[in-house]
Amino acid sequence: MSSTHTKSATIEQHIDIEGHVGIDEHIGRDLEYSAAYRWQHWIRAFSIVALIATGFYIAVPVITPAATNEPTNFLYALFRTWHIIIGFVFISAILLKSYLFIFAKKHVNERAALKDMINPIVWAKQIGFYLLINKHPKLKGVYNPMQFMAYLLFYLMAFSLIITGLILYVHVYHEGLGAFLYEPMRSVEVMLGGLAFVRELHHMLMWGVILFILIHIYIAVYNAIFIREGTIDAIISGVKWHKRV
Ligand code: HEM
Repeated sequence: MSSTHTKSATIEQHIDIEGHVGIDEHIGRDLEYSAAYRWQHWIRAFSIVALIATGFYIAVPVITPAATNEPTNFLYALFRTWHIIIGFVFISAILLKSYLFIFAKKHVNERAALKDMINPIVWAKQIGFYLLINKHPKLKGVYNPMQFMAYLLFYLMAFSLIITGLILYVHVYHEGLGAFLYEPMRSVEVMLGGLAFVRELHHMLMWGVILFILIHIYIAVYNAIFIREGTIDAIISGVKWHKRV
């Protein structure tokens, strides 16, 4: 989850559980997430929520405008248009994040998590931590192995949603990019067994993403309570609190 980790002050104002204000030289404030990193996180988050909302409507159009003699009120088309526009925001955000993960110098901490993921001792300690048996293991990277696996799965689902989404897209928009992508997307569509299955797969992947979001939020709250470093606050303010000893 993290990319930058810059030390600021080592002595911070400290408010203890009873509300007493004092100085605690053992707790320091570190910049955990840069502004760019936080913006990207929230752009991904809001685009996913909007795609789920519009996607549900495309699947089951629960409200329809009152029928009139005028050829207006194309509510379904409006939802589809917004779904596609936000779909391209989502594609850009996922491609940027993937590029940064693989190539960016600043993201070396994220890539280091691969070493933890292939280490069975870290796995055992991480499971022990979630079962409240032992302390959190020391990690080389910024993601614990279970977290890293969950993110890998998420990106696999995200790329599958993009491919299936683009196949659906070339069938509803035939100019510009739609025309350019038509032939290659049709080939993938045939490989996947036809348009009906592609639409079904796109829909099922949404449920995978919903499950990921629920677990992601649950773990964030869990860490906020048990690690007490300001995990949730950090993705808004950028700052985490770390023990210096
Ligand atoms: C988090 C990502 C996404 C979610 C959760 C999502 C969800 C959905 C859902 C639930 C449907 C309805 C499927 C059905 O009929 O049962 C749908 C349709 C569709 N999606 Fe997505 N989608 C996502 C990303 C994308 C992307 C990246 C594109 C590419 C531009 C895209 C393009 C489309 C198109 C063109 C349709 C069909 C519209 C129609 O049939 O008229 N989606 N999406």
